[in-house]
Amino acid sequence: MKVLITGGAGFLGSHLSEAWLARGSQVTVLDLASDAKVRHLRAQGGFRMIRESVLNRDILEGLVAWADLVYHLAAVVGVEHYVGDPYQVLTVNINGTQDVLAAAFRHGRKVVLASTSEVYGRSPAVPFDEDGDRVLGSTRVDRWCYATSKAAAEHLSFAFWRMGLPVVVLRYFNVYGPRLDQMDRGRVVTIFMGQLLRGEPLTVIGDGSQTRSFTYVDDAVRATVAAGLAPAAVGQAINIGSEEEVSIATLASMMVRLAGSASPVIFVPKEAVYDRGYEDIPRRVPAVRRMRELLGARAEIPLEEGLARTIEWFKRQSR
Ligand SMILES: NC(=O)c1ccc[n+]([C@@H]2O[C@H](COP(=O)([O-])OP(=O)(O)OC[C@H]3O[C@@H](n4cnc5c(N)ncnc54)[C@H](O)[C@@H]3O)[C@@H](O)[C@H]2O)c1
Repeated sequence: MKVLITGGAGFLGSHLSEAWLARGSQVTVLDLASDAKVRHLRAQGGFRMIRESVLNRDILEGLVAWADLVYHLAAVVGVEHYVGDPYQVLTVNINGTQDVLAAAFRHGRKVVLASTSEVYGRSPAVPFDEDGDRVLGSTRVDRWCYATSKAAAEHLSFAFWRMGLPVVVLRYFNVYGPRLDQMDRGRVVTIFMGQLLRGEPLTVIGDGSQTRSFTYVDDAVRATVAAGLAPAAVGQAINIGSEEEVSIATLASMMVRLAGSASPVIFVPKEAVYDRGYEDIPRRVPAVRRMRELLGARAEIPLEEGLARTIEWFKRQSR
């Protein structure tokens, strides 16, 4: 197989690249970022990275024509962007997806779109069923622009599917593992990690009762590979996640314990961290029946084990 992965130099894409290379496939990554997370793959035959924007239509056209299968992961991700640069979030995540789908349509290539649990917003109907309602805040609140951009990307995907393009939409739930963002940046696990490894207090935003379902990257990648292969997945939205629900306060204390650290866990009011453009989601848990039935995949790595592996990896990097 020839596999194109947009955003493939990012966290999830780098692991997905590894998985497809391990299957003997050729992988091309299209990404604006540095090759830091995929440099180790350069030595392998069958891998190349094109450092360019997914919004460059000429380059995209040629790469989609080359591929048998397209994974569209390129997106502007991270809370700091949702509230800091909503224009960029909307432009890349919506227009980039439209360009990828249009090119795939012209060449008859299957597309797997990386969407997100954020599309459910603060729906109270937990666990989130793929066909359930989305509950989002006002467009005056920037934090919703990412969820909206991914929902628009999903709508575009299903519109192209109706026109005959094979498309699969995957909604990831807090995937973590080695090569997640830089320490101190991005997502909760890496922010706690930086604090933990310096022996500083772990700062939980709010009272820490908000819950998430963290998915170890190997589990997410196994399901993502299956989505590229399984005919039954076409035309579907599928949650990719674990049913293991954990509060952020528990996550913090678990990480402290697993790292053998003496860091205390402290609670800071959210106003002290974000301005009025941020609202947190109280609970986030996936329904996983489709993942199991359509992809034959389930989250197998318990949170404690996945976190232990992740802490070990970050410790090695910081030595
Ligand atoms: N990791 C998760 O928990 C999670 C959860 C929900 C959804 N997702 C989705 O999965 C995908 C991958 O996420 P990730 O966690 O690996 O994040 P990431 O930020 O590590 O990866 C995204 C990649 O897209 C690239 N990118 C951004 N703009 C681009 C552009 N204009 N052209 C080309 N590349 C561009 C970035 O450089 C980055 O390498 C994203 O679409 C994200 O929305 C991830």
